[in-house]
Amino acid sequence: MELNENQKLLNSENKVLAPATRIQYFDLVVASGKGAVLTDLDGKEYVDLLASASATNTGHSHPHVVEAICQQAKQIIQYTPAYFANEPAARLATRLAELAPISGPVRVGWGNSGSDANDAIIKYARAYTKRPYIVSFTGAYHGSTYGSISISAVSLNMSRKIGPLLPDIVKVPYPDPSKKPANETLNDFVDRYWEAFKLPFETYLPVEEVAAIIIEPIQGDGGIIKAPDEYMQRLYKFAHDHGILFAIDEVNQGLGRTGKWWSIQHFNLEPDIMTVGKSIASGLPLSAVIGRAEILDSLDSPANTYTTAGNPVTTAAANATLDVIENEHLVERSEKLGKLAQEFFDQEKDKYDFIGDVRFYGLNGGVDIVDPQTHQPDSDATNMIIYRMFELGVVVISLRGYTLRIQPPLVITEEQLQHVFTAFKQTFSELAAGKLSLPENADQMGW
Ligand SMILES: Cc1ncc(COP(=O)(O)O)c(C=O)c1O
Repeated sequence: MELNENQKLLNSENKVLAPATRIQYFDLVVASGKGAVLTDLDGKEYVDLLASASATNTGHSHPHVVEAICQQAKQIIQYTPAYFANEPAARLATRLAELAPISGPVRVGWGNSGSDANDAIIKYARAYTKRPYIVSFTGAYHGSTYGSISISAVSLNMSRKIGPLLPDIVKVPYPDPSKKPANETLNDFVDRYWEAFKLPFETYLPVEEVAAIIIEPIQGDGGIIKAPDEYMQRLYKFAHDHGILFAIDEVNQGLGRTGKWWSIQHFNLEPDIMTVGKSIASGLPLSAVIGRAEILDSLDSPANTYTTAGNPVTTAAANATLDVIENEHLVERSEKLGKLAQEFFDQEKDKYDFIGDVRFYGLNGGVDIVDPQTHQPDSDATNMIIYRMFELGVVVISLRGYTLRIQPPLVITEEQLQHVFTAFKQTFSELAAGKLSLPENADQMGW
């Protein structure tokens, strides 16, 4: 069989690429992107429902961001902020401090990735509280450095073979309402998960030795799952009653993704410390840890410096990104288009019993695919759906094997979104008619 240009490049790359660096889905080589559309090496176009893993909320190569990058690159590409300040980073720090959902004096520290920003939460929490333990949640993805992988719990392959991980990390079950049996009330569900949360503290974990509880208020890679409000209120109170920092990870869900600037604003709570990354610089490597000033004052220089973190080009891109989010009202747009998407998938759910829970928080959705008889996750059907969508020119991947991940750039047009809905309609009807089959690499697809 004649190979297309994508496959030829992948064959050559596969001879040298380390397997742990790519999660397999489709034979796609991204050649270019504009807004919500990607073009591959053969010139085929796709509407992008992944947004580079929620890292391009402003869309691919937004002209304002491109212009800012080019202008800054002509001035200076890099001088390490670890030694000397630069103007775009200083401006961005002030903007982020104002935007952060934390009242009172706030400080900002730079990183290159969501992962190292979450490492910074561990460092600051331990330094500030002088306590060792960190509590995190099952289903969490906080990153791939040793610190952030240690507080994550979303894939066995992420902890397999690489231990020992960071000590003094305790994981508790994330309250995933999509797992609530129909005959259980939400209150009972919250009580049940709250009991599970308290168990470590009642049996082996001295509460006065816990530095921070870190949570994604809405889990991203865990399946786009929103913790119940009552659970979050209890968690916040528990943390503050015991001198524990309430830390949140906004790397995936921040910056308008959920229809609000920050996902924690769905709960009316303020974190003590938080992280932001991914979309902050429209995909250039930049992250930040933001927290109450007294917490970020607890570490001495150079405990959290990186040569390129807060680099002039990435921070210029981030200032331009914030301009675009503000000027194009992307937060409001996310909320509005998310409602359209929820309506569309709800209608499809009425037609097809293989569609389970549908949940959108802004333009940010999880659609579960289940076995119609058992109502259990159906990863084969999920793989058939995402592969067919790929053939039809839509990039959509799965989370946890059976959740369709719907996170397009927030600049996606309504016309492009309608095109996506049409492709889903066709795909769902083909699945129902038994016309879809698994792609050859199905057993390797996904996390
Ligand atoms: C919630 C969350 N935190 C942290 C990270 C890690 O970010 P990075 O891959 O930039 O290190 C991710 C990446 O998917 C994420 O979704």
